[in-house]
Amino acid sequence: MHTIEAYRSFFLDRIKQETLNREPDNLYAPIRYIMNLGGKRLRPVLTLLTAEIFGASYKDALSAAIAIEVFHNFSLVHDDIMDAAPVRRGQPTVHEKWNTTTAILSGDAMLILAYQYFEDYEPKVFLALAKLFSRTALQVCEGQQWDIDFENSEKVLLKDYLKMIEYKTAVLVAAAMEMGAIIANASKEDCAAIYNFGLNLGIAFQIQDDYLDAFGNPENFGKQIGGDIIENKKTYLYLKALEFGSKSETVELKKYFTAQNHGNQEKVEAVKMLFLSSGAAKEALKGIEEYTQKAFEILKSINIDADKKNILHQFGKNLMKRTV
Ligand code: IPE
Ligand code: IPE
Ligand code: MG
Ligand code: MG
Ligand code: MG
Repeated sequence: MHTIEAYRSFFLDRIKQETLNREPDNLYAPIRYIMNLGGKRLRPVLTLLTAEIFGASYKDALSAAIAIEVFHNFSLVHDDIMDAAPVRRGQPTVHEKWNTTTAILSGDAMLILAYQYFEDYEPKVFLALAKLFSRTALQVCEGQQWDIDFENSEKVLLKDYLKMIEYKTAVLVAAAMEMGAIIANASKEDCAAIYNFGLNLGIAFQIQDDYLDAFGNPENFGKQIGGDIIENKKTYLYLKALEFGSKSETVELKKYFTAQNHGNQEKVEAVKMLFLSSGAAKEALKGIEEYTQKAFEILKSINIDADKKNILHQFGKNLMKRTV
């Protein structure tokens, strides 16, 4: 086993070898741009770590780790078009730096590239990885469509939201971990358990993403603060504000999420105040804790040594402290 930092640097070394200096440049330059823009590299690190937890070498998991990270970055390029987001990782988004048609096609190419990395595996492993990947990628699309549909719906329930974030975000974290287990030839039970661990961690991760979108520090967050508020996203904060807010707070919040005539900055500041005064911000922190604890409960049932459980436990705890 290695440290999390070591897995991250193994991954970065490997991804550096992917120069992607191909023609036409307008297809590949945006891919190089987004892939080299940084990011936490959370998912590929989990793939490498999980492979070693179940007894393989991280080296055998590098191709799957790249596949997962390329897919993740593809989803961000298209997500930023869908969310009209100007900034990603502190830099202009692909569709802002180039244009929307370029961002669509470079994103499409990234999705194909992601699949190609699985060709590095022998047929039995290839099949298992490709099946998991296809199912996961389709679920991400389904989650993304719900996210967009909910912008114009006033009837979104917490359970709808939880399903939406499970699909758009958590399944990929879960699959990243299960891929490591598959490569290590872990048992079906262990594959399922590590998937469920990742799923709950992923749900906590998205609730925290919602929280940071409003309350992150603009100095280092790397995305436009209040982007979800501007886009009328039905986030955990929004749903909890409706649940816990007073009558006048919920009326005001709904007004901000339907009226067209509020300046963005005024709207963001007012809605953030409502998230705080209603107790929604505190509820979001509780939600992050709750789903992380659920992940830790699942961890108890997995057939691995205590020191390996500890690494995953620490990883989950550190994730709760993230600011980016
Ligand atoms: C952003 O993912 C999209 C979500 C699913 C919330 P990350 O927060 O992992 O983004 P990077 O890769 O670190 O930039
Ligand atoms: C991200 O949801 C889900 C996917 C990219 C699939 P968000 O729209 O909340 O992600 P950010 O906040 O833009 O990174
Ligand atoms: Mg977005
Ligand atoms: Mg989005
Ligand atoms: Mg977000």
